Amino acid sequence: MTAAPRPAASLPLGGVDLSCRFGPLTLPHPVMTASGCFAYGQKFAPFMDLRQLAGLSTKGISPRPRPGNPLPRICETAAGMLNSIGLENVGAEAFLSEKLPFLADLGVSVWVNFFGEDADEYVQCARMLDAGHQRGIDVLEMNISCPNIKKGGIEFGTVPEVAHALTKRCVEATRIPIVVKLSPNAADLPAMAQAVADAGAMGVSLINTITGMAIDVRTRRPRLATTYGGLSGAAIKPIALRMIHQVHRAVPELPICGMGGVGSGEDALELLMAGASCVQVGTANFARPGGALEIRDELRALMAELGIARVAEVIGCVEPLPPEPAWAPAPPDAEASR
Ligand code: FUM
Repeated sequence: MTAAPRPAASLPLGGVDLSCRFGPLTLPHPVMTASGCFAYGQKFAPFMDLRQLAGLSTKGISPRPRPGNPLPRICETAAGMLNSIGLENVGAEAFLSEKLPFLADLGVSVWVNFFGEDADEYVQCARMLDAGHQRGIDVLEMNISCPNIKKGGIEFGTVPEVAHALTKRCVEATRIPIVVKLSPNAADLPAMAQAVADAGAMGVSLINTITGMAIDVRTRRPRLATTYGGLSGAAIKPIALRMIHQVHRAVPELPICGMGGVGSGEDALELLMAGASCVQVGTANFARPGGALEIRDELRALMAELGIARVAEVIGCVEPLPPEPAWAPAPPDAEASR
């Protein structure tokens, strides 16, 4: 499938300039789509003009293709979704030859999520994907946060020293900037962010899913073949906000790509106010396959309504509530005159 012609650069609408920066990247607006929820892009072409996205992050790529976990591996929950896909993907070689040309042609920011089963495989993958330097890949999003595989992923996502060493090796293996996707399961997320920043990461993505479970009470069995999976969607937005806020306050110069329950323009604005420089839409794509662009439009309308002219004005702008005035008893005279 080939992409449609690129539209002319859009002018600020409604007095709102949605353009924003993520480190050295300039984005036309802050709304991207998230890894694992948008495959390699093509499948969403019937639902939206992909060229209007700020960017997209691909399904995680490994050095060799992977079949992923057994079915069932997705299940809806009251306020989100559980998944245990197991990082199924076509592998780095097939990605470069079969998927990247379509994505490069879109003219949007292409982030390639990648991982390995051990440190050497991460480095090997970063090296293989380096072939996409100046061929369409803007960012390698290093995934150290997948909860659904036995080796790799989250193993590297909870210990700052380990994440630092791995990031450093991957940064040295490629000319493409690396953004590290952190795990919400790390005990000290600001320490993780600082560790990967010190190792040369251009930014961080947060948050990935939080491990959960669902049970079919009729069969008395888990709803996922792997029993546990990663919870995403509306249920995790408050956790994402808290973590983005904590990381932004601890490492303010480090750009954050925020994700976790973004389903509306207001959700996106909340993540920006917490400290994200841009956002990725994940689970919402399953219910509204063209939803990311609607979210962009909602964000623009909300910013116009609130008198916010530029995205940069709101990044990390949230302030603590002012202290409540101290309670004092009513004066005796006032009591008597009632
Ligand atoms: O199971 C999966 O493919 C999930 C990946 C992730 O959360 O990074």
